[in-house]
Amino acid sequence: MNQVDYLRISLIDRCNFRCLYCMPEGTELQYILQQNLLTDQELITLIQDVFIPLGFTRFRLTGGEPLLRPGVVELVEKIAHFPQTQDISMTTNGFLLAPIAQSLYDAGLTRINISLDSLDPDIFEQIIGNHGRKRWQQVWLGLQTAYDAGFDPLKLNVVVIPGVNDHEILDLAALTIDKNWHVRFIEFMPIGNGDLFGDRGWVSSAELRDRIRQRWGLTESQVRGNGPADVFQIPGAKGTVGFISQMSECFCDRCNRVRLSADGWLRPCLLNELGQIDLKSALRDGVSTLELQEQVRNLLTFKSEINFKQRDSGTVGTYTRTMSQIGG
Ligand code: GTP
Ligand code: 5AD
Ligand code: SF4
Repeated sequence: MNQVDYLRISLIDRCNFRCLYCMPEGTELQYILQQNLLTDQELITLIQDVFIPLGFTRFRLTGGEPLLRPGVVELVEKIAHFPQTQDISMTTNGFLLAPIAQSLYDAGLTRINISLDSLDPDIFEQIIGNHGRKRWQQVWLGLQTAYDAGFDPLKLNVVVIPGVNDHEILDLAALTIDKNWHVRFIEFMPIGNGDLFGDRGWVSSAELRDRIRQRWGLTESQVRGNGPADVFQIPGAKGTVGFISQMSECFCDRCNRVRLSADGWLRPCLLNELGQIDLKSALRDGVSTLELQEQVRNLLTFKSEINFKQRDSGTVGTYTRTMSQIGG
C-alpha cells in the first residue's frame, strides 16, 4: 500500500451551494453545532502533535465550503508555517474566492481546486441549485483571480452527469489549450444524490478520453498527479486534462489519504467510515497526543483492507455522512 501522508481536513460542513449531485433537492442536513466543531487550536494541535509526527506532510482544506469558515486565512498561515508541511491546498466551489485569493496565497496556500461543472451560466445555476442570482460569473472571477494571484497548478473539477453537462466536455477540455489549467473530469458516484444517479447513470472516463482524442488527439502527460487523477494532455496545450475514474477503475490501492471531519472524526476512506476515530472527544477528554498517534497508526493499518469495490459488493462499508459533510 501507498504511504498515507495526506490529510484532508473538512473545516466546516455547511455549503453555500446545493449541487444536484451532492445534495438532492429538499435535503435537510443536520449541521454540526458550533461547540462540536474542532476549534482552530484543536486542529493545530492534532496536525502538529499527531499527524506530523506520523509523517503527514500534505494537507488539503475542504468543506462543505471551506471559505465559510471564519479565520480560514490564519489557519492556512499556521499550517503552512510548520517546516514539515510540503503542500497545503484547498478544494472550494470558488464563489467566495475572488476577494480572498491573494490573502490565501500570501498566507502560504499552494494549490486550489475549484468545482466548475459548466461553462454555461444557466446550466451552472441548475447544477448548483437555483439561488436566484447569477453565480457563475462570481466563480469565474474567483478562478481568474486565483490564477492571477499565482496559484499553480489551478485545478478545475467537473462531475460529469449525462444529459446535464456531458455535452460540454470538449469546451471544458479546450480551456487547457491556452491556459495552464488542469481540468479534471470526475465520474459521477452513487453517493449524495442516488436518485439522480439512478436516472442518469454516469459517463466513463474512457468514453470522455475518446471524444477528446477524436477532436484534438490526447497524449499521456508527464505531469503526475498527487492523487487519483490520470493525467493527459491535448498536444501543444499549456494545461492538462485529468480523469478521476472511481466508478470504472478502483484506485484504492494507491490511496494516500485519510479525512478529518469538521467535528473531529478521522475516517479511513471517502466511502467508508469503519474504524473511524473521534479525535475531538479524545482530545477534550485529555487523552495524550502520544496515545492518539497510536490510535491513528492503527487506523492506517486497518485502512489498507478497505476499498470502494468492497463497498459496492456490500461486504464492508458504512457511511452516514454526505459528500458535503466529508469534503469530497
Ligand atoms: P490533488 O490531487 O491533491 O490535487 O487532489 P484531489 O484531486 O484528490 O482533490 P479534490 O478535492 O479536487 O478531489 C476531486 C474529487 O476526486 C473528489 O471530489 C472525489 O470525487 C474524488 N476523490 C478524491 N479523493 C478520493 C478518494 O480517496 N476516493 C475516491 N473514491 N474519490 C476521491
Ligand atoms: N460524485 C462524484 N463527485 C462528487 N462530488 C460531490 N458529489 C459527488 C458525486 N456524487 C465532488 C465534486 C466536488 C467535491 C466537493 O465533491 O467534485 O467538487
Ligand atoms: Fe456543491 Fe461541494 Fe457544496 Fe456539495 S459541498 S453542494 S459539491 S459546492
